[in-house]
Formats: sequence, structure tokens, C-alpha cells
Amino acid sequence: MSKNIIIALDFGTSDQTLQFLDLLDPNLCRVKIGKELFTASGPQLVRKIIDRGFDVFLDLKFYDIPNTVARASKVAADLGIWMLNIHASGGRAMMEAARESIDSLGDQRPLLIGVTVLTSFLKEDLEQTGIQSCPEDQVSKLAFLARDSGLDGVVCSAAETKLLRSQLQDKFCLVTPGIRRPEDAIGDQKRVVGPAEAIQNGSNYLVVGRPITNADSPNGALIEFNSAVSSVS
Ligand code: C5P
Repeated sequence: MSKNIIIALDFGTSDQTLQFLDLLDPNLCRVKIGKELFTASGPQLVRKIIDRGFDVFLDLKFYDIPNTVARASKVAADLGIWMLNIHASGGRAMMEAARESIDSLGDQRPLLIGVTVLTSFLKEDLEQTGIQSCPEDQVSKLAFLARDSGLDGVVCSAAETKLLRSQLQDKFCLVTPGIRRPEDAIGDQKRVVGPAEAIQNGSNYLVVGRPITNADSPNGALIEFNSAVSSVS
């Protein structure tokens, strides 16, 4: 079982999160902890979740001067997480410093993933920050910079996956949110794709939140996502 599904634990409290995880088998999925849950419950909860056998993607999107990001990345890696992300727009020196800081963990180091352009950004938002490229070009540019700076992959939207996969080698990880089955509510996502299509487009890992966290049977929903993925991989 290749465990391509990463469940976004977008809960506000530790209790809610652990109750939800009681329903899931760590052999069938990985989990993502973002800023809300981490700010509320911190490293203690991360350790508890790892102790239950789950691989944790710590989605804190670090962006700062190289020394600060390197030190924060090392502290995060020492928690025993499986994946960590930083902003590729923080530049080559920042990304290289982060990679170097976790290399001492050898095989145990987490995968280091870059965030390219936030999917909430349109062309005009980029222009307001002084970037004239269109979002697609900027995403490619930052993905190449991330790869050349020693990162293991990038987070990318469903709309960007195909293009990036055609430009980058298979071993460069693409982590894709915005995944929905036909029966799922789209919610605030703008462009969504199904789990099988995302894998066929070249994603390695699919981030799924509400279709599983809000399901009557989260484990049943997870099993469905996993079978859609295995039908094409
Ligand atoms: O509930 P849903 O499946 O939409 O959750 C998707 C998860 O992926 C959320 O945690 C969201 O913050 C995250 N994410 C995203 N789009 C991005 C980056 C992260 O939806 N571009």
C-alpha cells in the first residue's frame, strides 16, 4: 500500500484531532498538520500523532532569513515528522540552508517540499508584489529553483500538476490539494480534480481534507480514495 493520501487535520483542538484519528488506520494514510492546529496544540500533539504510527506532514510553510528557516527546519525534523514545507520564494540560500540543516538526520530526514505560488494568488496579486510573470510561469520557475536548491518536491494545485510533471523528473514529488470525488462538496476550492486523475496527471501525494474529515465514515471515505488511487497506480 503506497499511502498516497495525506489527510488534512484541519481541527482546532488536540482532543478533536485525536478522536478523529481513533477512526483511522495509520497504515492506510498519512496526515497533515497546519498552522491552526500547530498553533493551538504544538509539538506535543505532533509527537502524540507520530507515536500512534502516523506519518506527519508539518505544513508550516517557513519563510524567513536562511539561518532562521534552517534552525526551525531542524527543530521540526527532530520531532520525527515525515514531510516539511518552506516557501520557494524565500530563495535559493534559504532553501539550501534548510536542506543542509536536516541532512544530518540521514535516511531519517523528512522530505523537504517547496510552496511555489499560493493558489489564492491571481496574476494581479503577483503584480501587486512586483512579480510580472503569470502564475503558471512563476510556479514553474519556483519549482525549478526548489529542485536546484535540493528540495524533494513542491506543493502544486491540480491545475499545475500535468505541466510540472512534464517538466520535472518522476522522483521530484508533487503534492496536490484540491482533490474531490464527484459526490463531494467543492467548498472553497476553485479547481478540483478526482483522486485517480490527480495520480494520472503525475501527483505523488494527494492532500484531502473535508471529504474525509466531514464524512459520516472517515475510514470508509479513505478506503474509497485509496481504491481510486490504486485503480490507476
Ligand atoms: O478540505 P480540503 O480538502 O479542501 O483541504 C485541503 C487542505 O489543503 C487544507 O488544509 C488546505 O489548507 C490545504 N491547501 C490547499 N491549497 C493549497 C495549499 C494547501 O487547499 N494551495
